[in-house]
Amino acid sequence: MSYLSIKNISKKFNAGDADEVVALDGINLDIADNEFICLVGPSGCGKTTLLRIIAGLETATSGKVVLTDHEITGPDPERGMVFQEYSLFPWMTVSENVAFGLEMKGIDKETRTAKAMEFIELVGLKQFANSYPHELSGGMRQRVAIARALATDPAVLLMDEPFGALDARTRNTMQRELLGICERTEKTVLFVTHSVDEAVFLSDRVVVMSARPGRIQEIVEVNLPRPRDRTAPDFSDLRRHILNMMGEQTS
Ligand SMILES: Nc1ncnc2c1ncn2[C@@H]1O[C@H](COP(=O)(O)OP(=O)(O)OP(=O)(O)O)[C@@H](O)[C@H]1O
Ligand SMILES: [Mg+2]
Repeated sequence: MSYLSIKNISKKFNAGDADEVVALDGINLDIADNEFICLVGPSGCGKTTLLRIIAGLETATSGKVVLTDHEITGPDPERGMVFQEYSLFPWMTVSENVAFGLEMKGIDKETRTAKAMEFIELVGLKQFANSYPHELSGGMRQRVAIARALATDPAVLLMDEPFGALDARTRNTMQRELLGICERTEKTVLFVTHSVDEAVFLSDRVVVMSARPGRIQEIVEVNLPRPRDRTAPDFSDLRRHILNMMGEQTS
């Protein structure tokens, strides 16, 4: 059981200076155990900043984040992050990359290699365990990043546009794979995307943020049965509703 409670989070960069930026302003959000939340909103509205605060990589100016029974004060393997840019270590093999977090936890080599292999298999990269990142496609690299985030068995997965650089076909496959993984491993997920289609396909709720200072504009429940059909009328209706809210063209 793990739930995430984001309480009145605000973030100012360069506070008090001429170049002060209010990145987040009074964000309140409760994420239930096992829930899949997508965060959408214009570039610069504070999505990455919010994820980094939850990951413990950035401190909030005010407010707090509580995971089940404790306040977040820094990074911890209970929260796994997949970054907006590819973030594998180029000098490490797939297996070493995935085992990295386990090494940080002080787990012995044999155990962590076995554990890493379990997650490499889960993302379908068994044959590539000893390859280096430059030998993989973009989609494969992103699967390694996901395996690495999963390997330490975090309660919460924080994913920052993980599929942004993928072609449409690979992206759809990855979306289905991720849902399967989350179902099997019971994760609570906060997933940032610029694609409203992706958000409606993946989430239990879509959180729409407004432009700077980042605030929550609306939270949309997606009560569509899974696996979801992107061509279904109610899928399109929800998609259109969110796009309209974001002030975009629906064509
Ligand atoms: N370390 C920093 N120092 C100063 N300003 C920052 C810093 N990090 C982010 N910002 C500012 O905070 C705002 C929010 O940035 P953030 O990266 O969270 O946006 P985002 O919603 O993730 O955007 P995108 O969709 O383009 O990834 C931006 O105006 C950015 O310039
Ligand atoms: Mg970002």
